[in-house]
Amino acid sequence: MQLTVNTEQHEVALAGHETLLTVLRERLDLTGTKLGCGRGECGACTVLVGGRLAYSCLTLAAACEGEPITTVEGLGAPGALHPLQQAFIDADALQCGFCTPGQLMAASALLAKVSDPTAEDIRAAMSGNLCRCGTYPKIERAVLAAAAVMRS
Ligand code: FES
Ligand code: FES
Repeated sequence: MQLTVNTEQHEVALAGHETLLTVLRERLDLTGTKLGCGRGECGACTVLVGGRLAYSCLTLAAACEGEPITTVEGLGAPGALHPLQQAFIDADALQCGFCTPGQLMAASALLAKVSDPTAEDIRAAMSGNLCRCGTYPKIERAVLAAAAVMRS
């Protein structure tokens, strides 16, 4: 089957039960997307499928054919970081960093819809992304800063 990930086409032979998370990490070597709880509770595995947020641990890869998939690797790259990635660095919005790829994807989906979010908007939009290190205040500041950069 053909999967389009970060605008690249991949031909993948997969079993019907394989999750998108497994295919991304183990077949396509896109290890930015993390396995946390594996049951739809933490958001570490968050990606965009067809522009919508999806927990890749609960998404069947076979259901994603024909939909553009975006992972954190597609957001930006070293030397060409997305404003959110730069803002997370500037605000020191991570400790272990395990939740960060999912946080970035959730924040990018929010900013694609709301260019000038309030703190409340950010909390609501990112409520499905848990951070065990408790960096929520810094994440909020980073998203506000990135939104300002993207508006300017
Ligand atoms: S690993 Fe998917 S929600 Fe936790
Ligand atoms: S930075 Fe460690 S879980 Fe969020």
